[in-house]
Amino acid sequence: MKNISSGMDRICGEGAFEYLAKAQAVEREGGKVLHFEIGQPDFPTPSHIKEAAFRAINENYTGYVAAGGIPDLKAAIQEEIKQTRGFKPGADQILILPGAKPGIFFTMLALVEAGDEVLYPDPAFPTYGSLVKYLKAVDGAIPVREENEFRLDPADIKKRITAHTKLIILNSPQNPTGSVMTRDELMETAELAQKHGVYILSDEIYSKMLYDASFYSPAALDGARERVIILDGFSKSYSMTGWRLGYLVGPAALIKKMEILMINALSCTASFVQKAGIAALEGSQEDLHKMMASFRSRRDAVVKGLNEIPGFSCLAPKGAFYAFPNIKKTGKTSREMADYLLYKAGVCCLPGSAFGPSGEGYLRFSYATSVETIAAAMGRIKESLAEKFSHS
Ligand SMILES: Cc1ncc(COP(=O)(O)O)c(C=O)c1O
Repeated sequence: MKNISSGMDRICGEGAFEYLAKAQAVEREGGKVLHFEIGQPDFPTPSHIKEAAFRAINENYTGYVAAGGIPDLKAAIQEEIKQTRGFKPGADQILILPGAKPGIFFTMLALVEAGDEVLYPDPAFPTYGSLVKYLKAVDGAIPVREENEFRLDPADIKKRITAHTKLIILNSPQNPTGSVMTRDELMETAELAQKHGVYILSDEIYSKMLYDASFYSPAALDGARERVIILDGFSKSYSMTGWRLGYLVGPAALIKKMEILMINALSCTASFVQKAGIAALEGSQEDLHKMMASFRSRRDAVVKGLNEIPGFSCLAPKGAFYAFPNIKKTGKTSREMADYLLYKAGVCCLPGSAFGPSGEGYLRFSYATSVETIAAAMGRIKESLAEKFSHS
C-alpha cells in the first residue's frame, strides 16, 4: 500500500474536540462532567432566523446556488460591513462560505506558498498554525504576553516581518484569550502590512462579542480592496455553529480566485442557510443583545471564581466568551491540570498549550454555560485542588 500524503502528518486537529471526546468517555462510564471546552454559545438560534430557513425550504429553495453566494445575502453583507466597519465593499469583494473556517483555509491556499512566512499570534485558534505547517510555510508565531493583556504587539510584528512575510493573521477579539486589540494597534499593523506589501487576514468572528472595548477592523485602511481580508460569520453571534455560514470580504481579484476553490471543494454554501443569514443580519438584534448581557454576567462569575482558586489568576477578557487563567503557580503543566480537573473534579476545560507553545501555563474556559454551572465548577475545582495539595 502506498503512503498517505506527508501533508497529513503536518496538519493537526483541535484540542476542543480531543477534550470533548475525553469528557464523553468519562460520561459513558457514569461520571458527571461540567463542560467548558467547546466554543459554542449555549443559546438556541433565534426563531426569526429559523423561520426564514423553514420558509426557504418550504418554497423549495433547496438547489445549487451561485458558488460565491446569493446576491441578496451579499447585499445584506455589504450593508453590514458599511454599518460596522465604515465602508461599503463591492459585491465582487464578498465570498459566502459554509462557516468561517473555510475562509481561513481558502485564504491561505490562495496566498501562501512553501517558504512564505505567515505571522500569527501564539496562542491562537489552532487552524492557523496547522495550515502554516500543512503548506510548508515559515512559521511566524508571535507570542502574545499576559503583561500586554494578550494583545498582539505591532512592535513584535515589526521585529519579525521580513521580505519573505506574505500574510499576517489577526484575530480580535481573540480566541483563546478574549483579548481585543486597540484601534491604534490595528492601524499600526495595517500600515506595517502596507509598507511591506503583506496581506492581512483579519479573523473577526467575535466582532459582535465585546464587553469593555470597542471593535475596530484593520480593513478600514484599504476598504478590503488591496491587502486586508475580513473573515466573519454567523456561528457565534447568532448561535448558528451547526448551520455553517460565514464570509470573506477582500480584494476582488483574490475573492474571484477563492470562488474557484469553492467550486472545486464545495460547489456553494447551502441555499436555505443563506436565506437564514439574511434574516440574521436584517432582523431584530434583540437575541444577540440578551446573549451578550448573559455572557457578561458569566464572564464576571468565571473571572471572580478563577481568581479565588489558589495558584490561579485570571484577567477579565474584553471579548468573545473565553477566560484564560494563568496556572503557573500550581507547578503543573496545562495538560496535567486540564486532565486532573477532568478526571478528579469533573470539569472539562482546555490546556492553553492546545493553542500554541505560549499557551503553556494557562487553561481556556469557554463560559458558554449557566452562572450556576460556573459556580458549581469553581467549587469542584477548589475542592479537588485543596485535596491534592493537602496530600502532596
Ligand atoms: C477565531 C476563530 N475563527 C474561526 C472559527 C470558526 O468558525 P466557524 O464555526 O464559523 O467555522 C472559530 C471557531 O471557534 C474561531 O474561534
